[in-house]
Amino acid sequence: MGKDVIIACDFASAEETFAFLDRFENEKPFVKIGMELFYAEGPEIVREIKRRGHKVFLDLKLHDIPNTVKNSMGVLSKLDIDMTNVHATGTIAMMQAAIEGLTRPDGTRPLLVAVTQLTSTDEATMKKDLLIERSMEVVVTHYAMNAKRAGLDGVVCSPKEASFVHDLCGKAFLTVTPGVRFPEDDAGDQKRVMTPAEAKAIGSDYIVVGRPITQAEDPVAVYRRCVKDFVD
Ligand code: C5P
Repeated sequence: MGKDVIIACDFASAEETFAFLDRFENEKPFVKIGMELFYAEGPEIVREIKRRGHKVFLDLKLHDIPNTVKNSMGVLSKLDIDMTNVHATGTIAMMQAAIEGLTRPDGTRPLLVAVTQLTSTDEATMKKDLLIERSMEVVVTHYAMNAKRAGLDGVVCSPKEASFVHDLCGKAFLTVTPGVRFPEDDAGDQKRVMTPAEAKAIGSDYIVVGRPITQAEDPVAVYRRCVKDFVD
């Protein structure tokens, strides 16, 4: 897999999701299925999107005791997904258990990345709510090193941190970056944002774009603009 734009399909139902995906005639975008859609529709939504020829990032952000995460990843490993994730705050032991569970009997597994700090959290909130006194850069890169030690393929972080992560963990360690906005977009609840072109310049491997595409009048045009700025 190379650089790609992943669309966050944060819809409430399969019906809405397919109405959205049907607007794409020639492309088969890489799709992110999050908690809202997965909880509403269950594993069948993943199977159907795969049948339609899309790659799937199943964004369920697992965070629990290692044994529970391992067993849950064992269930997810039976779906033909391309990428999934855990929270790095679950610890190295939990991330190792996640890999164990996700690895299929034939040795294959989807890519596994760890969420560092959500892109809706800024340094002030991290200090106030989580009592974390270190800088965002130190926290994110420390979590990235933990994920690397556990054997994961990369992290989810803000594009603002992608270059620090690559400097520390190597270029092959993936950075999947939500919090992407065009200059004219509303940031919504996202606090650490960048444009697709900036994310490319800084070395992100995948950008995750939700509302700027899904809420657009012409989602296909906005998707193509993301691809042009980030991939081409
Ligand atoms: O609509 P928007 O572009 O903000 O969507 C970003 C997507 O990326 C959402 O689905 C959100 O759950 C996800 N995400 C995030 N920050 C992270 C991890 C995932 O925004 N750290």
